[in-house]
Amino acid sequence: MELTGEYGPPRDEQEVTAVVDITAQAFAMAAADSDSVVRKNHASQLLRLLRHDGQVAATLTLIRMGQFLGGRSVPIIGVGGVGVAPEHRGAGAATRLFHHFLREMRDEGAPLSVLFPATQPLYRRVGYEQAGARYEIRVDASSLELGERSLTLRPMRPSDEAAVDACYRRFAAQRHGWLDRGDYIWRRVRTPRHDTAHGFVVEGDSGLEGFVYLIRSLAPQGAVPKQLLKLNDLVATTPAAARRLLRFIGDHRSLAQDVVWYGGADEPLLALLREQTYQVKLSMHWMTRLLDVPKALEARGWPQGLSGALHLDVADDVLPQNQGRFVLEVEGGAARVRPGGEGRLRLHVRALAPLFTGFLTPRALQLAGMLDADDASLDVAAALFAGPAPSLRDMF
Ligand SMILES: CC(C)(COP(=O)(O)OP(=O)(O)OC[C@H]1O[C@@H](n2cnc3c(N)ncnc32)[C@H](O)[C@@H]1OP(=O)(O)O)[C@@H](O)C(=O)NCCC(=O)NCCS
Repeated sequence: MELTGEYGPPRDEQEVTAVVDITAQAFAMAAADSDSVVRKNHASQLLRLLRHDGQVAATLTLIRMGQFLGGRSVPIIGVGGVGVAPEHRGAGAATRLFHHFLREMRDEGAPLSVLFPATQPLYRRVGYEQAGARYEIRVDASSLELGERSLTLRPMRPSDEAAVDACYRRFAAQRHGWLDRGDYIWRRVRTPRHDTAHGFVVEGDSGLEGFVYLIRSLAPQGAVPKQLLKLNDLVATTPAAARRLLRFIGDHRSLAQDVVWYGGADEPLLALLREQTYQVKLSMHWMTRLLDVPKALEARGWPQGLSGALHLDVADDVLPQNQGRFVLEVEGGAARVRPGGEGRLRLHVRALAPLFTGFLTPRALQLAGMLDADDASLDVAAALFAGPAPSLRDMF
């Protein structure tokens, strides 16, 4: 772990206060909100900062969790709260902070880092690239009138928490790119800042089959104050639970106009609707950075019944351990990576991120000038990395 005088967690109260101030200014937050968020993250040892002449110049928040890729949970370091003090901006502070941070996380053993970018050039220059999407799904509440009430739906109780977590996990494991949430994300789902999320669960013979967290707000147009329903989470692990939850949401339709949640463009619940009474819109692309190339390739799941070998040649100017030739061998749903080989598919570690998650095909990456390979290697890579479009629900 690299903790020099320039980089590390806050050392004292003065530095925590500086992070509170940087965060409030970076994200236009009220001082009290920034104070409570930063102190919570400090208590969980999630803060890192960069010092310049003894002063705090930049900060970020790291979030340890998992991401389901090919059906397996891969450990990732999410990044949020990236902020540079206004007087230090434009002088490379964020870039330096990330150089330290990426080395520390790699040394700690994390294979991947993921973030939602407010600006892409900063993250691209340290090796992140677009690797998946988060969509906004907006449904007309009046169209949710499916006649299904066979399963029991009731308000969630605190004692349901473990079953709800397990239900989400069962569902998310089948959704390529979705988070294997930790406490940080669950807290945002259950107790969103300035809102109340009401939880409801659906039970069948085998226990909890689905749940929803609902946030109601007033939509400010029209003579009758209509409502917007935001679903902080919506999970159905059986068709009956899916129909019951849609019916439950539809039962709000006298006053609710739009129902909004987030996920992939391939949202399965939309297949239950009679008509196309919905809109699916890109909210944002997320970016991924491979911290440890062999480890990342071996940690994800791969299609069963597929085997092949790919000779990679990777460039990485920030983490030189990733630099060089590797052979990726896939068989029986798992991968092995060994150093060496012929390096027939050449790319920067940045371009490996969208290939790794299946966000872009190797031929699309070649067209974008991000990859160079012979036809046979392109065909092998296309087959190995093919899969559902990577998406995720939770913003962080
Ligand atoms: C975005 C931010 C973190 C950049 O910090 P910084 O120390 O100035 O960044 P660097 O000097 O290391 O610049 C790295 C690259 O980021 C990009 N960048 C820097 N400031 C930027 C800004 N304000 N807006 C958009 N892109 C910016 C540039 O491409 C820059 O490279 P270049 O100078 O070669 O063009 C800082 O401006 C900030 O705190 N902004 C408010 C909060 C925020 O947006 N956080 C990001 C949340 S994901």
